[in-house]
Amino acid sequence: MPEKSSKGKGKNATLWQGRFQGSMATSMEKLSVSLDFDRKLFREDIEGSLAHALGLKAAGVLSAAELRKMQDGLKRVMADLEAGKDLFEPGDEDIHMAVERILTQRIGPLGKKLHTGRSRNDQVATDLKLYVRRRAQALEALVTELQKAIYRKAIAYQKDLMPGYTHVQQAQPVYIAHYLLSFFFALERDKARLRHACDAAAEMPLGSGALAGSAFPYKRELVAKALGFPALSSNSIDATAHRDWALEFLSAMAILGAALSGYAEDFVLWSTQEFGYIELGEAYTSGSSMMPQKRNPDSMELIRGKTGRLLGNFTRLFTVVKGLPHAYDRDLQEDKEGVFDSVETLELTLTVMAEAMDSLRFKTDVIAAKMHPGMLATDLADYLVGKDVPFRDAHHIVGRMIAKAESLKVSFLDLPASEWDAIPDGKDFRKRLTFAYSAERRGIQGGTGSASVRGQLAKARRLLKLK
Ligand code: ARG
Repeated sequence: MPEKSSKGKGKNATLWQGRFQGSMATSMEKLSVSLDFDRKLFREDIEGSLAHALGLKAAGVLSAAELRKMQDGLKRVMADLEAGKDLFEPGDEDIHMAVERILTQRIGPLGKKLHTGRSRNDQVATDLKLYVRRRAQALEALVTELQKAIYRKAIAYQKDLMPGYTHVQQAQPVYIAHYLLSFFFALERDKARLRHACDAAAEMPLGSGALAGSAFPYKRELVAKALGFPALSSNSIDATAHRDWALEFLSAMAILGAALSGYAEDFVLWSTQEFGYIELGEAYTSGSSMMPQKRNPDSMELIRGKTGRLLGNFTRLFTVVKGLPHAYDRDLQEDKEGVFDSVETLELTLTVMAEAMDSLRFKTDVIAAKMHPGMLATDLADYLVGKDVPFRDAHHIVGRMIAKAESLKVSFLDLPASEWDAIPDGKDFRKRLTFAYSAERRGIQGGTGSASVRGQLAKARRLLKLK
């Protein structure tokens, strides 16, 4: 005989005990319980109930005195949970049932009126939407803090050049600030995605009931206003069945994680002995338990590694919702943990990235010494274009010079004067052909030239609302 839970009898009676004769199997109870993780929603759940009670009062289900008593009871439960009191009991299946049980034990039979016209289906969707909206905004603020750190660093390295890479091959010289600002502007789109996820969760589900809508003259507008939802769901099945808005949030978080990961990878690479371009603050590195000389960029590796769970959480919910019958199915209980995990992961990684960014030092002398003159080949070809040589021919001429230089094991700038004869005023131009010259030719809006970098910094300042 499978073991039976004590739930369903006595003090731990379930909320649906009227319909059932026996109790849940212990194994099934373990599968069913979500309190371990959905207790994180206690604030949203109690706020939802406070607003729901207002709606019930307006519907004539609660008297003014009952509303006050219920509000008072709910607020005390909130205060106790905020204070870290453990009010939960083993029989509590989820946060919704736990709060209702605690409330009813405290204020008596009135507590049993709270769930009128409400189902846990619209309740849980409301709770999670509140959570998503708040955390999306909080993450956006953390991204802004990271952008501020990037901005400060870009200001500090406005005049220093570094190799710009494609395929991890030195390509063309860029200002360090230009490189850093590429991170800044990518994050601007991440913030837009987070805002969009917040907007996608803008419609309040309460009033939808289990799937068909509440049968009481419940004032949804009043409830939505109390909770800060800008809109009401238009359809009660849509409101209880769908999690696309959570998926959108998870997607925005995964994409943000991928951006952090890409820059983390650059910083890992650049702190190797082979590159030696940067030094991360000691507080964001760690040593080896065996090799005394090591200082590893663990902060960046961990940020890079966290991308796995961010994408995993997105995939996890996507897989759950694919092909679900409508409306609510219990599978949807699986929507929460991934969202919590991604939020908590990013709160940490964004904070570390911002702090590490402040601690970052570019070793400009090492960088300058590693810059390869080959990065100026395009500028020489461009110069020939100015002398009316078609670009494809110019590319060919310079390509031959590079090949020759390689065979002589010198930089193309150091080829014998005879090799520069093919270039009109070549001797003179060779002297002007510097990394700064190359960068400054690219003052085009969005390019790496100082004029453009100044423009980008001004735009960043405006976006950050800095003076
Ligand atoms: N714990 C459930 C969840 O997270 C609450 C909704 C349960 N609804 C139901 N009809 N069993 O989705």
